[in-house]
Amino acid sequence: MSTHPLDDFAHGLPKAELHIHIEGSLEPELIFALGQRNQIELPYPDVESLRAAYAFTNLQSFLDIYYAGASVLITEQDFFDMAWAYFLRAKADNVIHAELFFDPQTHTERGIGFDTVINGLTRACQQAREQLGIRAELIMCFLRHLSEEEAFETLEQAKPHLGKFIGIGLDSSEVGHPPEKFARVFAEARKLGLRVVAHAGEEGPPEYIWSALDVLKVERIDHGVQSLKDQKLVERLVKERIPLTVCPLSNIKLCVFPDLGQHNLKQMLDLGIVATVNSDDPAYFGGYMNQNFHQPRAALDLDREHLKQLAANSFEASFATPEEKRAYGDRLEAYCAG
Ligand code: ADE
Ligand code: ZN
Repeated sequence: MSTHPLDDFAHGLPKAELHIHIEGSLEPELIFALGQRNQIELPYPDVESLRAAYAFTNLQSFLDIYYAGASVLITEQDFFDMAWAYFLRAKADNVIHAELFFDPQTHTERGIGFDTVINGLTRACQQAREQLGIRAELIMCFLRHLSEEEAFETLEQAKPHLGKFIGIGLDSSEVGHPPEKFARVFAEARKLGLRVVAHAGEEGPPEYIWSALDVLKVERIDHGVQSLKDQKLVERLVKERIPLTVCPLSNIKLCVFPDLGQHNLKQMLDLGIVATVNSDDPAYFGGYMNQNFHQPRAALDLDREHLKQLAANSFEASFATPEEKRAYGDRLEAYCAG
């Protein structure tokens, strides 16, 4: 099968991935392998029947199965293996910088130690740098369906590990759990020098994006696809160059848009929003990084400039240092000139 020339171009683009939940990279095969290794009985007889259950109607219908899948993760080696499998996929897609979300509460609630989780992930990040040339960082997310008090407990558990992650995020069930619920814990994290992001405007209204910006003081918005309903918000995102980490395949699988042809990614780029594309939970949504370039490219008729802009935006939106960003930009220009 021949590929479209722009897909070859997008494939080779150096790029950053900024919105990947590492627990969402657990492929059914690895869930079964880890289940066997840890003698955990799964409610599905085989890989095919688990994969067949991945038919979602909204965010919550996905989260129920996503949290169940994570129950096979027990040892530090399990967390390492999960992240390493992701890095190999990312390398194949020419991802050169990755910022990985992890959900400690999904594991500590089951009696797994915080240090087990973060040490396994940190080791995989180090190996990704050394063996794959991918600069990898961790961002710790609080589950917004839990209380702010529980988020504070998690931040306390994280304090001995402050050098191992660069920031905090906010994920899980959005509607009914607005950003301001976590105002105090985000303020404390900022005082610790952590970078701050939050999911907002995935299913929730533009007001949640405003409060993520004004109350939590986040530096970028995860998803943010509902922002185009609010002209004033769009003006602010453009003027302040507040990035959105958009996840096109996720939005289709969770029925945020009926199909990719109706996704607003192209509009965002044409409006001058610093939009990036990312895979969110690639094992569940049918594609890693490059599929999130190729499928919108075809459905929305994105051109070469759009694709290059997405790669450039990914570096601008990243938490890399200014020197790293300059080096990434040089690599991008060299690739596009070549
Ligand atoms: N956790 C994992 N994926 C998520 C998503 N798309 N939205 C909110 N929480 C998540
Ligand atoms: Zn997400």
